[in-house]
Amino acid sequence: MRYINLIFLFSLASAISHAELATNVLATTVKISLPPETLFLKESNVVGYSLASASCITCHSAEYIRTQPKLTRTTWKAEVTKMKKVFGAPIPDGSIDPLVDYLVLTYGVK
Ligand code: HEC
Repeated sequence: MRYINLIFLFSLASAISHAELATNVLATTVKISLPPETLFLKESNVVGYSLASASCITCHSAEYIRTQPKLTRTTWKAEVTKMKKVFGAPIPDGSIDPLVDYLVLTYGVK
């Protein structure tokens, strides 16, 4: 009987030390490094930057714009027009050119 108690005590002690081990693992500090911020459009002083920040990242993320190859003015203009006419982006006609200026300057070729 004493022998059985001894085994019981031994396994209890072992269970407790395992529990402590698990707690120590949980408390470990993990260092991570995040990729660069891509949620927003690249900052610029041109008017089109604030227009684009207000009207180009409401339906989809800025990634859609940032990951395009360097597009020409004609292609960016076609993109903005498509967003307005096909997808219903609320972009006033007068904002199209300033938007395209910003897009060509920041994500395009002249
Ligand atoms: C009303 C919603 C809406 C707004 C506002 C909007 N887009 Fe889009 N955009 C879309 C949709 C829908 C797609 C297609 C998504 C897909 O194919 O998965 C898209 C896709 C794109 C793409 C990927 C290429 C393509 O043609 O599919 C680009 C680039 C883009 N948008 C740029 C813009 C720019 C620049 C603006 C601001 C002038 C803008 N979007 C504003 C809805 C919008």
